[in-house]
Amino acid sequence: MKILVTTSAEASKASALAVLVPEGVVPDVRGAVGKTAQTLTRRKEWKGKFRDGLLVYGAGGTERVILVGLGKEKEIDAERIRRAAAIALKQFGRLEQKTLGIRLQSSHVAAVDAASAIAEGLVMASYRVPTATKKKQDDPYRAATVRVDAGTHRAAYESGVARGVAIGEASNLARDLGDLPGNVLTPTKLAQRASAMAKGAGLTAKVYRKPDLERMKMGGILGVNLGSIEPPVLIELSYRPRSFKKTVCLVGKGLTFDTGGISLKPSANMEEMKYDMCGGAAVIGAMAAVARLKPKVRVIGIVPSTDNMPSGSAQKPGDRLVTASGLTVEVINTDAEGRLILSDGLHHATTFDPDYIVDLATLTGACVVALGHDAAGLYGTDDKLIQMLKKAGDEAGDHAWPMPIFDGYKDDMKSDVADMKNIGKREGGAGSAAWFLSQFVDGFAWAHLDIAGTAWGQRNRDYVGGKCATGAGVRLLVRFLESLG
Ligand code: BES
Ligand code: ZN
Ligand code: ZN
Repeated sequence: MKILVTTSAEASKASALAVLVPEGVVPDVRGAVGKTAQTLTRRKEWKGKFRDGLLVYGAGGTERVILVGLGKEKEIDAERIRRAAAIALKQFGRLEQKTLGIRLQSSHVAAVDAASAIAEGLVMASYRVPTATKKKQDDPYRAATVRVDAGTHRAAYESGVARGVAIGEASNLARDLGDLPGNVLTPTKLAQRASAMAKGAGLTAKVYRKPDLERMKMGGILGVNLGSIEPPVLIELSYRPRSFKKTVCLVGKGLTFDTGGISLKPSANMEEMKYDMCGGAAVIGAMAAVARLKPKVRVIGIVPSTDNMPSGSAQKPGDRLVTASGLTVEVINTDAEGRLILSDGLHHATTFDPDYIVDLATLTGACVVALGHDAAGLYGTDDKLIQMLKKAGDEAGDHAWPMPIFDGYKDDMKSDVADMKNIGKREGGAGSAAWFLSQFVDGFAWAHLDIAGTAWGQRNRDYVGGKCATGAGVRLLVRFLESLG
């Protein structure tokens, strides 16, 4: 799919024209429809309620006109535009037309943000889960060209659409990685994909392999990896602009498949645990977007990656680990493995002396119970950072909700034989997991996003939702990083 920014006239000349219209407003379909259709679009029966669509025959070279309602003007925000653009694209995909013009008939949202939202909606709606069927499945959007009507905001639309395309594609990269099964996307393959992306985008990529991890004394990653025949990796991607004031480390859980290990998970829905690397995918996606958008902030993306398997060599409940930080952990439950690999990832982050550390992880089922699928759990040690992330998430339609780390969790995780156990009580399980992580950030300003509920299977939002990965975290991270420079 090609997305271009054009004049109104050029957009109208597309073989299908989509107009996103506020409620109660007569659609601007100048020259694109004949008399009959004109009356139809003026008729009161189509009111322009949010998500309502109307398909009419066009005229003068425009085969079809797609109207999508935005609802009341004052309720229009970037999320509604994203969704309306996605609805338009999907309707277009059913028409077998080649070019789609898209016009937003509202200036309620600033032009740059509106243009970005249109592009994000289009690109994310065009995402398809990677499949492997004998008969090739065709992509209805592959040969399509979309002409986005910039109206009188040419410059703002140029930069907004470029931003939206970068963010949309970065989100789809994260979704692709998330949706790939555990046998296809092993830690080694994840590292290859991340390195290939970095090479194409002009980022520096380093992949630490098992001997490196041994030298770095990363007992957390190595402990989780003991049961596996796939070697572990730690991926490090760096972006360094010529001038910057802040350094941010992003750390993502890259667990390519979580069986639970010896503390084996029940088999129902276990296939979903291929998504346990979505924190890592969000970090890789955010780095891809950063490479294109070039904010004035230094960013290092760190993804510890392994799978978590039960076998004769697997770590066992009661085992003790020495993490890279020197802190020791008594492994009570081998299924609480995300925090073990993150302990080493977070410690690695501290070696960059960053201003902020943000980690993302499908860390706990308890977080899904607490917040459902509508927002990530947002934990941390720095109120300013938490507020920045909350705001970035709200602005990006990629929500996170602040949650507490109570002192008491410490008591639940006390060990008689090590610095801490790897689990606390069942109650408050998302918070005690966050407390555990907080032990490895060495006083740096840190926040943690538990994306267990948001990384896949969200409710339908037109450009995202259903039984596939969502790219959760990518849009939030990009907005946050942009706000720093
Ligand atoms: N990857 C899981 C968390 C998870 C579970 C995410 C379900 C999404 C849906 C994590 O490694 C895990 O198994 N956590 C345990 C922790 C427990 C043993 C303290 C959990 O949440 O049950
Ligand atoms: Zn687990
Ligand atoms: Zn896990």
